[in-house]
Amino acid sequence: MDQIVIQGGRALHGCIESSGAKNAALPLLAASILADGPVVYHRIPHLMDITTMMTLLSWQGSDITYDDQHRLHIDSRPASKPQAPYELVKTMRASSLVLGPLVARFGRARVSLPGGCAIGARPIDLHLMGLERMGAVVRMEHGDVVVEAPQGLLGAQIDFPQVTVTGTENLMMAAVLAKGTTILENAAREPEVVNLADALRQLGADIEGDGSSRVVVRGVERISGGDIHVIADRIETATYLAAGLITGGDVTVTDTDPTLLETFLEKIVEAGGNVECDEHRIRCYTSNRLRACDIQTAPHPGFPTDLQAQFMALMCIAEGNSVIAETIFENRFMHVQELCRMGADIHLDGHLATVHGVKKLSAAQVMATDLRASASLVLAGLAATGETTISRVYHIDRGYERIEEKLGKLGACIERRHENSDSGIRGVMLYA
Ligand code: EPZ
Repeated sequence: MDQIVIQGGRALHGCIESSGAKNAALPLLAASILADGPVVYHRIPHLMDITTMMTLLSWQGSDITYDDQHRLHIDSRPASKPQAPYELVKTMRASSLVLGPLVARFGRARVSLPGGCAIGARPIDLHLMGLERMGAVVRMEHGDVVVEAPQGLLGAQIDFPQVTVTGTENLMMAAVLAKGTTILENAAREPEVVNLADALRQLGADIEGDGSSRVVVRGVERISGGDIHVIADRIETATYLAAGLITGGDVTVTDTDPTLLETFLEKIVEAGGNVECDEHRIRCYTSNRLRACDIQTAPHPGFPTDLQAQFMALMCIAEGNSVIAETIFENRFMHVQELCRMGADIHLDGHLATVHGVKKLSAAQVMATDLRASASLVLAGLAATGETTISRVYHIDRGYERIEEKLGKLGACIERRHENSDSGIRGVMLYA
């Protein structure tokens, strides 16, 4: 397994480009299953999760060709296997995003039930509830969820008891080819949901209300191929802006969209950071130590849970005490113990973390546990004087394209090393 090694304590300066959003690209790729023609995707990020999704679509029979690292063509007309096997789903739970499109197109699907992950149980019961409301029969079989709708799906009223991003996306896609009208109440409002709706409309779907909590989908006979553009990755953007702030530097991210990050940027200003934006560019810099401020994660347009760990890293060296409430996932504080090993002063009480700002963090050997937790450790390592080694960086590679290259361009001293199995400490064999 690889490690990332950072010589911290250097202020980052400069400009980097945002990649396409992982969490937009994944449902957009799944939507290719619905298209009765080839789809060209622009700005696909080069990430592990994307590779996994493409492997799954190819396994189902779709033709996939890459123009270059960020543009690809998918023709799903040859696809004939409405399944998602365990060996693929276990590496990426977002594989469940093929469920809705598969049932819509083939009238059936067998998808390995995604397990939980470090941040929580991550069930898909609301996805399945929606498909049942649309007339499908759902059953569990040997760890797979089997969904059957031999007469096709029917439009339905679906009321989500809680907001689910991929649940909204899955059922939006399922409804595109359904007979009749589907109404999604309490739908997710994330920009990635809007990107998907825009793309589906472009291919011929009849969708309105996306971006609000009430989405209306009128079923159509078919949708065609076309060109689809992935929006900027707002989480990646904010992570690099935070890298500039935590090191006392000045970072600009281009090819991005400030309207995707309003709540985050408001919090940066509240903490005393300077923010300058134009249509496709955001600059953050600070001349003083940030002030502590509280956050509470919430569905969009609230503070993104995917930025909670990164914001906590910022608050670790802010002036004062901040309270961070994680309301979306039940176990998304895995980064806290690792940050404390770097000298942070954080106390946990259920879904609340109280951060007492310290002047400096100290470099250490730490371990990544999940995608966004690992990003917070990178930020802490950039701020801490000395050498920080982060192991299990495969977590980072799932969501950050060429992270060491982009941070290196901003002046970070960062490199990727292959973790040698021999740590130089010989285990003592204990014989029973
Ligand atoms: C999406 O996950 C994102 N992933 C996550 O990003 C993000 O953290 C999350 O939305 C919240 O914004 C992708 O888009 C691929 P949810 P998703 O369904 O859709 C519960 C990252 O770091 N729930 O909105 O799986 C669930 O347990 C990843 O990029 C049910 O109970 O999240 C959670 O507590 C991590 N039953 C809450 O709802 C369901 O059927 C929100 O989950 C579905 C969800």
